[in-house]
Amino acid sequence: MDLKKYITIVPDFPKEGIQFKDITTLMDNGEAYKYATDQIVQYAREKEIDIVVGPEARGFIIGCPVAYSLGVGFAPVRKEGKLPRETIKVEYGLEYGKDALTIHKDAIKEGQRVLITDDLLATGGTIEATIKLVEQLGGVVAGIAFLIELSYLEGRKKLEGYDIFTLMKY
Ligand code: PRP
Repeated sequence: MDLKKYITIVPDFPKEGIQFKDITTLMDNGEAYKYATDQIVQYAREKEIDIVVGPEARGFIIGCPVAYSLGVGFAPVRKEGKLPRETIKVEYGLEYGKDALTIHKDAIKEGQRVLITDDLLATGGTIEATIKLVEQLGGVVAGIAFLIELSYLEGRKKLEGYDIFTLMKY
């Protein structure tokens, strides 16, 4: 299936010059959403995944159906102040300023094999921070799956040494 058909390119969103890749037109098509999910599940099957981890908000949309299909749990990575119990935190650079991502301290057990999911690999900052959180808890990042990779931003360079799977490249 040609998944790019289901991505809508929105010019100048959220600001001038950005060609926003809107995945909602993939998600609202049952066949395309299922196909994309199944591709990631197939990638993950031989990796003996114990748990899926995804950053808010779009990492949930990709990761939760994959976790369900694999029959494993899902642990959310959220912006600071959103998770109710004890968390660990990693700060990461944004285009302007800094932000922090958190995960519950007991979300991952030492040695668990983790699949990280997100909709989009851009600069790689979000996933680099997510990897740090997983590894600080003793998790092993067994694979990282995205719907879309913006190759020209070279996010992969930040993720060197990790097994990366992407369904579409721009
Ligand atoms: C977007 C996207 C990825 C991230 C990619 O999320 O869903 O998580 O940016 O960018 P990076 O590779 O440069 O880090 P955003 O922060 O907009 O959050 P949202 O999913 O809650 O909208």
